[in-house]
Amino acid sequence: MVKVMGISASPKVHGNTEKLLDSFLKGAESAGAETEKVKLKDLKYRSCQGCNRCHLSGVCVLNDDLTPLLEKIMTDVDILVLASPIYSMTITAEMKAFIDRTQYLWARKFVKKNLVFTKEHMKNHKGIFISTAGQEMKTVFEAAYPVIKAFFNDSGFEYFTNITAEGMDRYSGIERRPDILKEAEDAGEKAVLDLLKT
Ligand SMILES: Cc1cc2nc3c(=O)[nH]c(=O)nc-3n(C[C@H](O)[C@H](O)[C@H](O)COP(=O)(O)O)c2cc1C
Repeated sequence: MVKVMGISASPKVHGNTEKLLDSFLKGAESAGAETEKVKLKDLKYRSCQGCNRCHLSGVCVLNDDLTPLLEKIMTDVDILVLASPIYSMTITAEMKAFIDRTQYLWARKFVKKNLVFTKEHMKNHKGIFISTAGQEMKTVFEAAYPVIKAFFNDSGFEYFTNITAEGMDRYSGIERRPDILKEAEDAGEKAVLDLLKT
C-alpha cells in the first residue's frame, strides 16, 4: 500500500492551499493509496535554535510535536506533499520552521556522512509541492522552489512536481479554478500509479 502524507502549512483552515492539497489526496486515494493530512497550525513546535549539536550527534535536541512527525516521514511515507500558500513572496513561517527543523538530516548527510539515499530509495519516494498565491504572477513561487528542493534532497524524496495556482485575489478563491483542482487530483492519481510501476 502506497502511503501519502500531505503537510498543510497555511494558518487558515480549509483555505485555497488546503483545498488543492485535498484534491491531490483524493486523486491518490482513488489510485488505492492510504492518505494522511497533517496541519502544522495544530502542532506545537519550535524552530531550529541553531545550536549545531546535531552536527555531532545527528539528532535534534528539541523534542516536540515535530519529533514523531519527522520520524514518520523518514520511515513510513512514500509520497510527501508539502502545501504552503505564498506569504511575503515565499512559504509560510509554519513551513519554514518545519523545514529548518530538518537541519539534523543535513548534518547526517553532509557533516557526519552517515545518511545516504540510494537511487532505489529516491525512485520510491516522491515529493510534491503545492502552493497558491494572491498575485497573478507566474514568478511568485520562485523563491519557494529552492527551499522545497533542498528539503526534499535532505529527506530523500525525489522532487516530482509542483502544483501551483496564482491569481487567487482575482479569482476570489481556488473554487473558481476547477481546472487546477482537477490538475491536482490527476497528479495525485499519477504519482501513486507511477510509484506502483517502479
Ligand atoms: C500574510 C500574507 C502574506 C501574503 N503574501 C503574498 C505575496 O507575497 N504574494 C502573493 O501573491 N500573495 C500573497 N498572499 C496571498 C496568499 O498567498 C493567497 O491568498 C493564498 O491563496 C492563501 O492561501 P490559503 O487560503 O491556503 O491560506 C499573502 C497573504 C497573507 C495572509
